[in-house]
Amino acid sequence: MGWNSWNKFACNVDEKLIREVADALVASGLRDAGYTYLNLDDCWQGERDAQGFIQPDAKRFPSGMKALADYVHGKGLKFGIYSDAGSQTCGGRPGSRGYEFQDAQQYAAWGVDYLKYDWCNTEGLKAEGAYKTITAALRKAGRPMVLSICEWGSDEPWKWGPAVGQLWRTTGDIYNCFDCTKNNGSWKAFGTMQIMDKQAQLRPYAGPGHWNDPDMLEVGNGMSASEDRAHFTMWCMMAAPLILGNDLRQMSEATKATLTNREVLAIDQDPLGVQGYRYAAKDSLETWLKPLAGGKWAVAFLNRSHRPQPMRFDWQATPITDELSKATLDARQTTYRLRNPWAGQAAGTTKKPFAATVPAHDVVVLMLSK
Ligand code: GLA
Repeated sequence: MGWNSWNKFACNVDEKLIREVADALVASGLRDAGYTYLNLDDCWQGERDAQGFIQPDAKRFPSGMKALADYVHGKGLKFGIYSDAGSQTCGGRPGSRGYEFQDAQQYAAWGVDYLKYDWCNTEGLKAEGAYKTITAALRKAGRPMVLSICEWGSDEPWKWGPAVGQLWRTTGDIYNCFDCTKNNGSWKAFGTMQIMDKQAQLRPYAGPGHWNDPDMLEVGNGMSASEDRAHFTMWCMMAAPLILGNDLRQMSEATKATLTNREVLAIDQDPLGVQGYRYAAKDSLETWLKPLAGGKWAVAFLNRSHRPQPMRFDWQATPITDELSKATLDARQTTYRLRNPWAGQAAGTTKKPFAATVPAHDVVVLMLSK
């Protein structure tokens, strides 16, 4: 859980912004809710020095990266940075190709805790090998760092990623639309539902310490409050890394409430670490299930359509077994208590069918416990 500069600020980053975001993570309560990584994305780089060590852009980061990392650490946060396996980053700054060990050494000296490693300008490189090289370099540098593999799912990183890093992007870039695809010429950006559909198929590959990454959150970046809630909920149902992408310095109360709902966060952070799955889908209304530790379950009813939809779920109709985790939800044998975490209310038990109307582009969520 953390924050990253890209979705909102793209290349408009400097040390003042990063300091203000660090302050806002603390003042807003987001740090204390668990968002502890502050990750600086592309465009921080300047040139390499005479020995080949990468330097920050001196205009934007005049105090240097060590000072910035110290500031972030001083707030009880961790500091993340970005590079690229190729000759240049996606934003056209120097990449790490041929400098992997030197870059890792530099990041360690600065006090970096997290590296997002991108895949632009990598002609002739094979993804698995290139990511293994940076893993070896980080180990050699001797400072523990999370490695975020960012090659957009092109070379099936879910198959080799667990031995190489802690998370891997499963898709191309997200943008702030609920249910759309945008053609950017040579590449496409995806709305939240498109990304969710892609990641749904990769469920078996996620687990503690090695996560499918459906890209950073767009909550607070222009979608409606219900779309934000649905997007956030589905990332939690998918046990996704929760990397915020909005301007934390000017965030509405509604956005803050969405991002800090402790009960919904607990679905994401559940220690079982099982990615949830689509149990049923009919008329744009989907039922998603996520088995949780201690025999609990999270259930999300997701309405992908533009109009409100009534739903009814009869817990007694059939016992449910998740083939992957072998968890069983059998309401005939066990009575579960229901709780609606977005409403912050109890919602009866599984003795009776649950009925509700799910608003357009929204979710109704239930937590089941024995
Ligand atoms: C790629 C990544 C994004 C972002 C940009 C930076 O598109 O997928 O998340 O890091 O590069 O240029």
